[in-house]
Amino acid sequence: MSKSSPPTTLRLDRFLATVTDYSRSDAKRLIKAGEISLEGKTLLDPRTPVAGDADVRLRGQPLRSAQPRYFMLNKPQDYVCAARDRRHLTVLDLLDEDNPERLHVAGRLDIDTTGLVLLTDDGNWSHAITSPKRDCWKRYWLRTAEPIAEKAVAQFAKGVFLKDDKQRTAPAELDIIAECEARLRISEGRYHQVKRMFGALGNAVVDLHREAIGEIELDASLAEGEYRPLTETERDSVWSDRHE
Ligand code: URA
Repeated sequence: MSKSSPPTTLRLDRFLATVTDYSRSDAKRLIKAGEISLEGKTLLDPRTPVAGDADVRLRGQPLRSAQPRYFMLNKPQDYVCAARDRRHLTVLDLLDEDNPERLHVAGRLDIDTTGLVLLTDDGNWSHAITSPKRDCWKRYWLRTAEPIAEKAVAQFAKGVFLKDDKQRTAPAELDIIAECEARLRISEGRYHQVKRMFGALGNAVVDLHREAIGEIELDASLAEGEYRPLTETERDSVWSDRHE
């Protein structure tokens, strides 16, 4: 069974503060001054509920829709998954979008990890990806410093203890491709999880690349640093019970 992300309804003053640079108090002032209309009707009450995609206008000029946004990005190394950073560029610096600061990453990658990053301003949607309760699978390709022991497959399937964590990792699927190369599917998102899992076996990950999150595969046509909006199918797949 799958369901769509619920359409967002916002109070009019909050809607304005979301889609423009006006503060909530500026928005209230504009509303009370009769500057805001919906479908040709002036709205005077800041509490009026409006749908996220409503055609709200300021002095007759359409405002950008408050529809939530969803993107996939092919993250290069040396970019951090943070809203801002004093020393490094962030993934938001790669976006040519209005108000990029309103977007957040659904499932961070380390600075030296490449690959699939999902960005949105829909907190419910990103929660469905990152919530430990939802078992959303992530698939990584990786290269290690030392040959990967065959027994690692069974060890990861059973779960391993990571330094300072009290619980074993959830069952993970390791597919050894070459002596020092593998694909790993995990359903959790612990801090530095993949690197720490290999660390627990005395090995080290030297290259890490995320290929998929749930049913969303990194688009092979995106070069590093490029991004595109998600299709509706990709967006709605997050609500599916099947995350494989
Ligand atoms: N696991 C890691 O160790 N690093 C990442 O960036 C993602 C998963």
